[in-house]
Amino acid sequence: MCGIIAYIGKPDKTLHVLIEGLKRLEYRGYDSAGIAVLGSSGIRIVKSEGKLLNLLSRLEGVSLNGSPGLGHTRWATHGVPSERNAHPHVSGKTVVVHNGIIENYQELKDELRRKGYRFNSDTDTEVIAHLIEDFSLKGFSLEESVREAFKLLEGTYAVAVISEREPNKVVGIRKFLPLILAIGDGEVFLASDIPAVLPFTRNVVLLEDGDIAILEKNRFRITDPEGREVKRDVFSIDWDPITVEKGGYKHFMLKEIHEQPQAVLDTIRGRVFLEEGRVFLKGIEDSWVADVNRIVAVGCGTSYHACLVGRYMIEKLSRIPVDVDLASEFRYREPVVDEKTLVIAVSQSGETADTSYALLEAKRRGAKTLAITNVFGSKIARESDVVVYTHAGPEIGVASTKSFTAQLVVFYLLSLFLGISRNRLTDAYSLQLIKDILALPQLLQHVLRLDSEISALAGEFYKYKNFIYLGRGLNYPIALEGALKLKEVSYIHAEGYAAGEMKHGPIALIDEKMPVVVVAPQDELLYRKLVGNIQEVKTRKGRVILLTSKGSVNEFYGWVDRFVEIPKTPYLISPLISVVPLQLLAYYIASYRGTDIDQPRNLAKVVTVE
Ligand code: G6P
Repeated sequence: MCGIIAYIGKPDKTLHVLIEGLKRLEYRGYDSAGIAVLGSSGIRIVKSEGKLLNLLSRLEGVSLNGSPGLGHTRWATHGVPSERNAHPHVSGKTVVVHNGIIENYQELKDELRRKGYRFNSDTDTEVIAHLIEDFSLKGFSLEESVREAFKLLEGTYAVAVISEREPNKVVGIRKFLPLILAIGDGEVFLASDIPAVLPFTRNVVLLEDGDIAILEKNRFRITDPEGREVKRDVFSIDWDPITVEKGGYKHFMLKEIHEQPQAVLDTIRGRVFLEEGRVFLKGIEDSWVADVNRIVAVGCGTSYHACLVGRYMIEKLSRIPVDVDLASEFRYREPVVDEKTLVIAVSQSGETADTSYALLEAKRRGAKTLAITNVFGSKIARESDVVVYTHAGPEIGVASTKSFTAQLVVFYLLSLFLGISRNRLTDAYSLQLIKDILALPQLLQHVLRLDSEISALAGEFYKYKNFIYLGRGLNYPIALEGALKLKEVSYIHAEGYAAGEMKHGPIALIDEKMPVVVVAPQDELLYRKLVGNIQEVKTRKGRVILLTSKGSVNEFYGWVDRFVEIPKTPYLISPLISVVPLQLLAYYIASYRGTDIDQPRNLAKVVTVE
C-alpha cells in the first residue's frame, strides 16, 4: 500500500505540492510520513511516525526550498511503524520512496552488508536505495543505476528516486503497483494516484508495468526496462478537485455516504435507454456473452459483498448460474473455469492484489474477464478483457460506501443486459426494471433524510460491545456489509448472518446485551420468514433494531425495540436502499466512540499485498 509523490519544478512550490499530495494519499496508509527536498545545501529529509499531522507539525516554521522533492505515507509491511522505518530512505547521495514489497530483500541485504553498506531501518525499501547508490558509485547515471538495480529486485513496487549527483532529475519505476505521471507548466509529478495531483494539473500519463519515467522540469521520457523509449498517451482528467475535499462534512465517509445519489446517477447515465428498453455497457456485445454458461464473481471486503448481491441479480434476471468467491481464495483453489466462464473481478481501487491475481488466474485458464472498478486505468481495469467503470468519483474514506452502491448499479445493469440478451425478460418487465433503476437516485435522496434519526439511534447503542446483523435473500449480503462497516470504523465486534442460519448457532449469543439489526424490507417471499426470525430474537431478550419498509411498521409496534423506516422499493432495488442506514449507523456509532473514521486503525484503502 503506501502512497508516494514526487515533484520537479518550482523550488518554492515543492513543499506545498508534497504536502497537498500526501494529504490526498494518506488513505493508502498512515503509519508514518516523510519528505525529502533537494535544496542548495543538499538533500533535507523530515519524517515522523504516525499520521501526516505529526509530520506537518514538525514542518511548521521550516523553510524548505528546492527541487526535486519526494513524499511518502506508509502502511507498514517490513519493520514496525516508527520514524526509523519511515520513508524516504537514503544511501549516500541516493534517496528513495517506495510502495510495495521486495521479496528477495533479505538476500540482497546480506550481500550489501558484506559490501559494507550499513542499514538504518528494518524495511525492505532500504535495499533499493543501497543498490542504486552502489551502481552510481560504479559510474552509472541515475537512470542506468535504477535500471540495473531493478534487474536484481523481485516483487512488486512503485518507486521514485532522486540523487544529489543529478539534481535535475527524478526517476520513477513501476511493477504491478500504480504510478502515474502528471504534467504541469514547467513541472512534472509522479504519484500513486490521480487525486494526489489534481490541485495542480489535469494532464496525466498512466505508466505501465516495467515503465521507467525520467522527469526533468520541462520534459519527461519513458523507457522500457531495457532503456528503449516508449510512448504513452496523455489523458485529460475531468474529476473536479473539489470532490477530493471534505466539502463541509466532518469526515469523508459521511460526505461519500451523502454523495450516493450522484454516484449512482453518474453510473447509470448513458447506459440505459428507456424508449428502446435497452441497456448499453461499452465493450459488452450480445455475441461476447452468447456462449457464457457460468459466471464467477470475485472481490475482497465490500467488493465481495457487492458480488454476493450481484449473484442474486444475475441469476434472477438471466438464469445464468453464478458462483461468488473471495478473490484471496479463488486463486489457490485451482478454480474450474474455461472459455465459457465469465469471471467478474470487482474492485473499487482496481489495485487490490488478491483480486488482480484472481483475475490473472482466470485469464490463464481461458475465462472471459470483466472488471467492475472505480479507477480509470487501474491495474485490474487494464488486465481484464472488458471494464465497466463505476462513476462514483474518488472515494477517500477507507470504509467503502458510495463505490459499493455504484457497484450494485453495475451488477443491476449487467443482469438486465444479460436477461435481455438471453430473451429471459418480457419487454414490459425490462422496461419496468429500467424505470426502477432510474428512480433510484431520488429514493436515495429520500433515505438519506434519515441521517439525524440514525445519529440519535447511534447515541443509544454505541456502548454495546457486540452486534449481530441479519438479512435474507438480497439483503443477506447487506447484513454482512452492515456488520463490516461497523467493525471497520467503530471497532465493535459485529457479525452478519443469513437470518435463516441464526438458529444454527448464533442464537446462542442472544441476550439483552446483544443488539440485533434486522434488514427486512417488505418483499414477496422473505418478509414473513424474517418476522419469524425477529420473534426468535425477542423471545431470547435480544434488542432488535428493525429496518423495514414504510407501511409495515405497524405490525411490529410493541415488540421490536427500534425501527428505521425505509422507502418501499422493488425487490432488486432494495439492497441499494437498505445499505444506506447501515452505513450511517456505523458512521455515527464510530463518531460517538471517537474513532478515527476516515482512517481506521490497521486498515488501508488500497491493499496491494496478498
Ligand atoms: C480494503 C479496504 C476495504 C475494501 C477492500 C477491497 O480492505 O479497507 O474497504 O473493501 O480493500 O478493496 P477494492 O479496492 O478491491 O474494492
